[in-house]
Amino acid sequence: MNRYDGVKVLLTGAASGIGRATAIRLASEGAAVYGVDLSEAGLAETAAAITGPGTIATRVADVADEPAVIAAVRDAAETLGGIDVLVNVAGVHRTTPLASLTVDDLMRLFRVNVVGTALFCREAAGHLPDGTGAIVNVASLSAVQGNPYMSAYSASKGAVISFSLSLAAELSPRRIRVLSISPGSVDTPLTRAPDMFPDGVDASYFGRLYAPFGVGAADQIAAVIAYAGSSDAAYQTGVDLRVDGGSHM
Ligand SMILES: NC(=O)c1ccc[n+]([C@@H]2O[C@H](COP(=O)([O-])OP(=O)(O)OC[C@H]3O[C@@H](n4cnc5c(N)ncnc54)[C@H](O)[C@@H]3O)[C@@H](O)[C@H]2O)c1
Repeated sequence: MNRYDGVKVLLTGAASGIGRATAIRLASEGAAVYGVDLSEAGLAETAAAITGPGTIATRVADVADEPAVIAAVRDAAETLGGIDVLVNVAGVHRTTPLASLTVDDLMRLFRVNVVGTALFCREAAGHLPDGTGAIVNVASLSAVQGNPYMSAYSASKGAVISFSLSLAAELSPRRIRVLSISPGSVDTPLTRAPDMFPDGVDASYFGRLYAPFGVGAADQIAAVIAYAGSSDAAYQTGVDLRVDGGSHM
């Protein structure tokens, strides 16, 4: 008996990094996954990596595009025959010194990280079963640990934690659980991006990003997401789970 046998999961950000690792982990435990992402090629790579016993269906959509989200959630519910668990992983990062922070940077971070998460929660909540439904939103350790040049990203992830906390209270009468997950520094395409450390910034400030346990792997975060969405976490809601290799001790 697998922990996710018969469980239908709607997952954003499934084309790369933590989202791909989550799709693989959940399908390995029996889940029927519906993966959404901007990247068609990345979704195809994720689907190719899934060997069962679970399954994956995919859809290209921008999580910040309201009509696209409404259509994606409707199709996910039809394709899977319902939605038991929503996992919001899609996100964008930007490292920007304050002096060069633009309105465009702020809007992009908040549109994807906050608006995208909120839209999927709004659209999926009505499908989640009372008593067993769950939402897992990926935030970041940056929300609760000051990291230089990440003020806008950190603020967007702080909003994800606050949104999740209030949503947990709102959905508690239905016994639907809402958790956020805050990874520390994880080796993915996001952290390998060339603009992760912009020219001219003092790289020594970034020392605090590195955890006593080293840089995390995407499958280590996926393992905690899988736990949070499962009945193993049945008595946890309205909480942020840090998965940071001891960065914040
Ligand atoms: N890697 C880290 O160190 C780290 C740490 C803390 C939190 N996080 C968070 O984890 C999540 C996953 O990050 P990752 O490191 O796996 O990055 P990643 O870049 O490998 O994956 C992010 C995925 O989100 C998708 N995406 C971005 N914008 C989208 C949009 N508008 N619509 C649909 N899909 C979109 C991308 O196409 C990509 O597949 C993000 O929310 C990120 O902020 C990452």
